Amino acid sequence: MEYGLIGEKLGHSFSADIHSKLFGYNYELREVPKDELDSFMKHKAFKAINVTIPYKEAVIPYLDEISPTAKSIGAVNTIINKDGKLYGDNTDFLGLSTLIMHLGLELNGKKVLILGSGGTSKTALAVVKKHGCKEVFRVSRNGTGDCITYDEAKVNHSDADVIINTTPCGMFPKIGEAPVELSDYPKLSGVVDAVYNPLRSKLICDAKKQGITAEGGLYMLVAQAVYAAEKFVDQKVDKKKIDEIYYGLLKSKENIVLVGMPSCGKTTVGRILAFETAKQFIDTDEEIEKFAGKSISEIFAELGEKSFREIESSVIEKVSSLQNAVISTGGGAVLRERNTELLKENGRIYFIDRPLDFLVSTDDRPLSRNRSDLEKLYKERYNIYLGSCDKRIVPSTEVSENVKVIKEEFYNENTCN
Ligand code: S3P
Repeated sequence: MEYGLIGEKLGHSFSADIHSKLFGYNYELREVPKDELDSFMKHKAFKAINVTIPYKEAVIPYLDEISPTAKSIGAVNTIINKDGKLYGDNTDFLGLSTLIMHLGLELNGKKVLILGSGGTSKTALAVVKKHGCKEVFRVSRNGTGDCITYDEAKVNHSDADVIINTTPCGMFPKIGEAPVELSDYPKLSGVVDAVYNPLRSKLICDAKKQGITAEGGLYMLVAQAVYAAEKFVDQKVDKKKIDEIYYGLLKSKENIVLVGMPSCGKTTVGRILAFETAKQFIDTDEEIEKFAGKSISEIFAELGEKSFREIESSVIEKVSSLQNAVISTGGGAVLRERNTELLKENGRIYFIDRPLDFLVSTDDRPLSRNRSDLEKLYKERYNIYLGSCDKRIVPSTEVSENVKVIKEEFYNENTCN
């Protein structure tokens, strides 16, 4: 290969996507088993590569030269083959540094906790020191080496200003988990998570909910790739490209989630939206029916609403971990806060706020078979829909107009909020 990425498992990697938007070279993902690393590095059959888990430290002995940053961190993610001599660098450092500046996160004079003890945590340590933090502690489960334990962090450093997570906690497929409880750290002004799948881990969603400046790892991933590409071909890239690639990647991965009252049009709008955005369409009610092998009416009649809600929650947990989908939810999906929280990890939630007068009761909807049930549901739920959505859409009678409004909002929305 000429250019590419080596690591043990690369199924999750977005790197080929990112590099394809840079200098037009072919970027290969090469899974290298542990016992083949030695021969791969000795053959040097590449022009330039990136290195990921678990080889960022293991490649160092094969290098002829190493940048001062990579040396002080003790990890290398970029190797250039210059006429048979291998030069190692660490662009993760620049990636995280760029993310911190992009966020406007002030570290000067601040107390920072770095969760995790692996390679990325060492990079984070170097970055926060460079940004002038007052104190920094690395936190690991067993507190060995120069790390403290999670209990020590909670007891002695609850006044931390910034938390940076470098552990895989909350990462696909085990979404919905966070390494710490943010209420234990009431002074926080910033949270960064190296995890980029899901797009917003539970930790990031929790922080945003409290109004704390927070961002996941996708921006950092793009930035480190752009800096690596510059070194690959020894040419500068306009740094606006980082925002551009990040935003394009974010929108190609992010889900559009539709919530709202029964008969508000979620499924109709969702199908067309999925077609027009080239995203996969998922209807949670259909998934529930497939899972149970019964219709929604039969589930309600035979198992009751409580069991229905259990099945609905497990379906939502599953579909929330998918990306690049339009997800139409059942009218009651937002009744459990955890469902909404999970859907937000990869999705932007739109509430289709069709006025009560335009909603209809139907026989196949067990909770809204008649007008008075429908009105009761509307009153009970209206504020829950409002509170759970990122954006309220007041629909017109034209389906195509509703699709257009959501599409425009989704692609013009400029942040990962
Ligand atoms: C329900 C709405 C239905 C379906 C189930 C429960 C609800 O979906 O999930 O009957 O609680 O409002 P629609 O909103 O697609 O009708």
